Amino acid sequence: MKIIRCKNYEEASKVAGEIISASIKTKPDIVLGLATGSSPIGTYKNLIQDYENNNISFKNVKTYNLDEYVGLDRQSPQSYYYFMNENLFDHIDINKENVHIPYAQANALEESCKKYSEALEKAVVDIQLLGIGANGHIGFNEPKTPFEQKTFIVNLTEKTREDNKRFFSSIDEVPTKAITMGIAEIMKAKKIILIATGKGKAEAVKRLLSKEITTDFPASALHLHQDVVVITDEEAMSLVNS
Ligand code: F6R
Repeated sequence: MKIIRCKNYEEASKVAGEIISASIKTKPDIVLGLATGSSPIGTYKNLIQDYENNNISFKNVKTYNLDEYVGLDRQSPQSYYYFMNENLFDHIDINKENVHIPYAQANALEESCKKYSEALEKAVVDIQLLGIGANGHIGFNEPKTPFEQKTFIVNLTEKTREDNKRFFSSIDEVPTKAITMGIAEIMKAKKIILIATGKGKAEAVKRLLSKEITTDFPASALHLHQDVVVITDEEAMSLVNS
């Protein structure tokens, strides 16, 4: 696991953007695994900038997103489908047919997981972008999720719903379930970039860097992967002895 220690969120976003941009230049038909939430927004801004400056094209890029709430339709501004269009896809030349975002219909939960899992089975993700939950979740793989897990429907923990209520008008509106890529599928990516910045991630980063591997802290599975880059900043590293 390689740690890149940046000054702040802006620098971390620039570094993550540069790694992804350089990879798109080298491999224009790259397959990217993408995340939502606050962590990747700055990275997406940098990628959009690179696209606008004619440095990169997404014409042949394929993407697979990590997760989506259950119970929100795709037009809902809180859905991850909406988030991805707003923060990335609507601003670049990606072919929307190459975009994959899990979607679980209430009456076909099992079927939806199976379909996404099958798609992931065939895909070879070159770079998987991740954020990390304060409780160590990656995707929506909450503590105690087995490392062998494939795409499934998760009951979100109260901590995660609480952390994500900032995007909703009240906690009651935060869905209780989500569909998420499983840890096994995340680990299949050739390279993983995890962005962890800000004070709120300091405990999680400390625990991640303690190197203890346990399902109590899902991100610790990443120690079993050959090519993980953790991009952090001063605040997120504030509890780690240097
Ligand atoms: C989002 C996702 C989550 C987030 C995590 C951190 O697609 O899979 O694991 O990466 O909850 O969220 P932020 O970046 O908002 O702190």
